[in-house]
Amino acid sequence: MEMVTLGIIGGGTVGGGVFQALQRNGSLLCSRAGFDFRVGRVVVRDVKKTRPVPIPQDLLGTDWKAAVEDPSIQLVVELMGGTTTARQVVRRALELRKPVVTANKALLSAHGEELFALARRRQANLYYEASVAGGIPIIKVLREGLIGNRITHLYGILNGTSNYILTRMKLEGLDFQEALEEAQRLGYAEADPSLDIDGHDAAQKAGILASLAHGFWIRPEQIATLGIRHITKLDIQFATQLGYTIKLLAKVKQGDIEKGVRDRFRIHVSVSPTLVPNAHVLASVNHVFNAVLVRGDVAGDTLLYGRGAGQDATASAVLSDLADAASDLRVGLQGRLPPFVAHEHHGGVLPYKEAVFPYYVRLSVVDKPGTLAKIALLLGRAKIGISSVIQPEGHEGESVPLILMIHDARHAAMTQALSQIGRLAVVKAPPVMIPVELF
Ligand code: NAP
Ligand code: HSE
Repeated sequence: MEMVTLGIIGGGTVGGGVFQALQRNGSLLCSRAGFDFRVGRVVVRDVKKTRPVPIPQDLLGTDWKAAVEDPSIQLVVELMGGTTTARQVVRRALELRKPVVTANKALLSAHGEELFALARRRQANLYYEASVAGGIPIIKVLREGLIGNRITHLYGILNGTSNYILTRMKLEGLDFQEALEEAQRLGYAEADPSLDIDGHDAAQKAGILASLAHGFWIRPEQIATLGIRHITKLDIQFATQLGYTIKLLAKVKQGDIEKGVRDRFRIHVSVSPTLVPNAHVLASVNHVFNAVLVRGDVAGDTLLYGRGAGQDATASAVLSDLADAASDLRVGLQGRLPPFVAHEHHGGVLPYKEAVFPYYVRLSVVDKPGTLAKIALLLGRAKIGISSVIQPEGHEGESVPLILMIHDARHAAMTQALSQIGRLAVVKAPPVMIPVELF
């Protein structure tokens, strides 16, 4: 049996999980993949720290450079997070032509183009299954299982923390803050939880998936991103009454073919809270679970569901990469499947202002005759159609909620009309608008 020696950079939630999973399933992995993985070094910030998964003291160190450059380390596993030192770690390993496994979507999102180019130049491999959707093998599915498909649509619930919060708010009536604290205690949240709740973590993952699906690098600033901070229990309740569930949904859609010298299509990529019909399977993806729905032009719809965050789920994805990396190492194979291959004629990313969705709108208005007429007039002038109106009875006080369901409308037209509506004297709070996805 061949031995492969690992240098694990990071011994926290995921690093500890990988260490533990290798102890638990190392012999299974050995018999299936044909490699005996030995941990040669685990690099942490503080070797004295008490760790939930104990790591023998003689394996621990704080010098990542010494670990990466150690000739006995054949494979580098970057599980420290962040984009500064982690970038140096990955760069150094690739320069030494050592394969790298990473779970770091923030790093790939910010520097992926550079790191994949370096890997190609140095003829080394970079594996990143754990960077998107925890235990769901979505990278392998896109790169291998669906390689013969054009990916026309991809929808993802990609942030476990946000999904956990929205689920606890809907099913248990928890406050946003209480639910966030639970997610942090359970090890789902990023060190800086604003990455989760402001949608950036999901956008980083959506960018990786969109780039893989469409063969050109999509930069984070090209992805319209809105998180769940502003979602209230009131919106969750109204959405439920209307037959919807609010999910933080990543959307990657191929636009219509645009005729020209070279026919092309543009790609819509966004992450935002979205009303998902209760009858759709993604509405019942709850708690920390993630799901990705991929629509291929040959395969049709494929749905993947699993734990999107947490120690064991992420460790499982890392183990899968270890097996691939060791196999490629054995046969000296580089770039078996190049990660981002330019496809047919893409026309870049569609500006979000051109994106078209049906919308849910919640207004806080004065309950007096003429209010609805004023609002309808402004929407009518912008050529925005209302599909239904609800003004729930029983609300007291100076203002009452008014819910409008809007037919397909361009984002730019909606923001402009709602900014005018927000300035009406009968409207008492900034309007809330959430896109609806009908799949
Ligand atoms: P974590 O619990 O904070 O662990 C980070 C580890 O890296 C710790 O062991 C820390 O040392 C070490 N470290 C950080 N900076 C270091 C430095 N400059 N030098 C040496 N060691 C350093 O983070 P995590 O949750 O395991 O996440 C790791 C990566 O996996 C991130 O990229 C994250 O986005 C990704 N990921 C996480 C999850 C999840 O559910 N948590 C899921 C998928 C992907 P100390 O232990 O001494 O502090
Ligand atoms: N914080 C991330 C999440 C971890 O909640 O999904 C997994 O990438």
